Amino acid sequence: MNKRAKGVTVWFTGLSGAGKTTVALEVEKRLAEQGYYTQRLDGDIVREKLTGDLGFSKEDRNKNIERNTFVAKILTDNDVITLCSFISPYESARNYAKKEIMQVGEFVEVFVDPPLEVCEKRDVKGLYKKAREGKIKNFTGISDPYEKPKKPDITLKTDQETVKESAQIVIDHLKKRGIL
Ligand code: ADX
Repeated sequence: MNKRAKGVTVWFTGLSGAGKTTVALEVEKRLAEQGYYTQRLDGDIVREKLTGDLGFSKEDRNKNIERNTFVAKILTDNDVITLCSFISPYESARNYAKKEIMQVGEFVEVFVDPPLEVCEKRDVKGLYKKAREGKIKNFTGISDPYEKPKKPDITLKTDQETVKESAQIVIDHLKKRGIL
């Protein structure tokens, strides 16, 4: 049976390879098993469609976040648990997302925070190597800034936790806040 949660956007921010998508997928799986409506919005996917025209300048990254915030807001307003995974390196853009979404529901900021060296070592997509070689410009953490969240609701140390443990921390937080 499907259950309705209080509308919420869970916003995963962090470097490429930090584990944003992996943890969001596990959270989604766990919530779906419990019958909740969920929707993921993921940088790698939406950038093929909704924001396929954008690059990685500050201006384009902020546009990416603005458009996705628009979608997340609609979903949140309809009581869907919306799981956003974007590097979202700029504090101002994350604050924009929070302000917009809080007009219709809850917002949970999750800082996915393994050390840069761990992300680079994982190099799942081979992008860090290319960035180091100068083949990709403006790569977050290497040649482009990442502004760490000052007061995230949750910080996940994905180099020290299993995926299941990280997902559990998110779910426990949603329960504690009365969202689930
Ligand atoms: S954001 O900065 O606008 O929030 P988003 O999360 O949508 O970024 O997309 C990041 C993904 O795009 C990375 O995981 C990586 O696969 C790819 N990517 C390609 N070029 C870059 C770059 N210069 N910096 C960061 N990620 C990049």
